[in-house]
Amino acid sequence: MELASKRQNEKQTVYIKTFGCQMNEADSERMYALLGEAGLEPTHTAEQANVIIINGCTVRAKAIHKAVSALGELQFLKKYNHNNKTPIIGMGGCVGQFEKQMLFKQAPWLDFVFGPDAIDQLPEMIFRVQNGEKHVINTDFDVLENYSTETKLSAPTSKAFVNIMKGCDKYCTYCIVPYTRGKEKSRTIDEILSDVARLVSLGIKEVTFLGQNVNSFGKGNKNLKNREPKKLHNIIGRVGPDEDEENFPQLLKAIDQDERLKNLRRVRFTSSHPLDFSDELINCYASPEQGGVSKLAQHLHLPVQSGSNRILEKMGRHHKIEAYISQMDRLRALMPKVGLSTDIIVGFPTETQTDFEQTLQLLDRIQYDNIFAFAYSPRIGTRAAKLNDDISLQEKNRRLQLVLKHQLKISEKRNTMFIDKTMEILVDNIAKNQILKKDDKNSTVWMGRTSCNHVVNFLSHTSSGLEGQFLKVKITGSTPLSLIGGRV
Ligand code: 5AD
Ligand code: SF4
Repeated sequence: MELASKRQNEKQTVYIKTFGCQMNEADSERMYALLGEAGLEPTHTAEQANVIIINGCTVRAKAIHKAVSALGELQFLKKYNHNNKTPIIGMGGCVGQFEKQMLFKQAPWLDFVFGPDAIDQLPEMIFRVQNGEKHVINTDFDVLENYSTETKLSAPTSKAFVNIMKGCDKYCTYCIVPYTRGKEKSRTIDEILSDVARLVSLGIKEVTFLGQNVNSFGKGNKNLKNREPKKLHNIIGRVGPDEDEENFPQLLKAIDQDERLKNLRRVRFTSSHPLDFSDELINCYASPEQGGVSKLAQHLHLPVQSGSNRILEKMGRHHKIEAYISQMDRLRALMPKVGLSTDIIVGFPTETQTDFEQTLQLLDRIQYDNIFAFAYSPRIGTRAAKLNDDISLQEKNRRLQLVLKHQLKISEKRNTMFIDKTMEILVDNIAKNQILKKDDKNSTVWMGRTSCNHVVNFLSHTSSGLEGQFLKVKITGSTPLSLIGGRV
């Protein structure tokens, strides 16, 4: 569908402001690609765009405020007809899905609202607005049993996000996601393999499998090819899909075995739940000789949320901290170099100083490379929102600062261990923060990531063309958040 331009010969343009998780980032990439096919070019600022979309996040109150205040800031573009264009404005993501019609009441200048399941209908919604329809809305969940999609890229690149499942059936007591993203549905292994093969033929070298809970991948899809392993186990007990259904370790193994994917170098995945982190998945981290998956990146992001069993129970996480520690120990034994990261929530209702200290002790015990920590924020409609939110904002923030500081020291110490080591990185881009002192004016600071997901900044006399290359770098220095290297 080619979208109309109000003035002849004028290119239609789109700007998307993205908040929240990698899922939203991937959704925005899909929107750019779909709208690109419909003739809309991306712009760098909202002021230049004919169509402006906010892809909002609802996971914490702060995230919603950001999306809603971004919407407020756009009102003047509607009022003052900036650059002689009155843009069409839309709100998507979990904010669109959750707030629905309410958004039109709050911001009458908003033209359309949509949820994550309606992204493929975006060109049609914009077409309807262009043809005079007011307050267009599509927040329906897709009602199909199966989940089928094709990854879209808006520009040539070496890395891609690939959605493999959507929704979440875990219903952790604090979390809004099951209400905004619906129930779990997975793509089939064969469809994902063909999709990734097409991406590899376009030059993709690294994929990140995305889903709210990728390690419960496969539920509901019959294991028609009888791939191994058929039954998943772990020390916690209940694990993901049934015996006769597809599962995540099968997908990873199939990736390694598919001839079409020879040029794919790395596979990452996010996000996961300890309950579905099966022994079979841990074994994928073994060396290829021991049956491991050779393309699997040496990195795991496994959210734990709290170090206290009492709080984990109240969060509805259904596992004990001892089981999580044992999973991490087994993983580290198989792959000592593995980079680990997690999510932490502080200030959950009734969290005592002792509970909080157990979280700090967990950080000491696991020695993560990186953590993402958040102050608990009650979300209307969740079970935890019915509990008394008894930790003051001030105390939540105090704990948040403490946990971040605690981890910073661990990260700082861990990063120094890489000094003098030679590591392979996939170059991302020219570094945004030029933290390195340039040795002469002709050098450029680049950034890339190791398999363990460490950011490495390095100097090069090349100012273009390194994007997407695998390079060896020798680590010469470190900061708490990144490594500094030199090309070898
Ligand atoms: N309050 C604070 N943090 C939350 N998260 C999810 N819901 C909430 C909430 N209500 C955090 C969890 C999750 C991450 C994506 O966001 O740590 O893993
Ligand atoms: Fe939210 Fe829990 Fe599902 Fe993660 S696993 S998306 S925290 S409900």
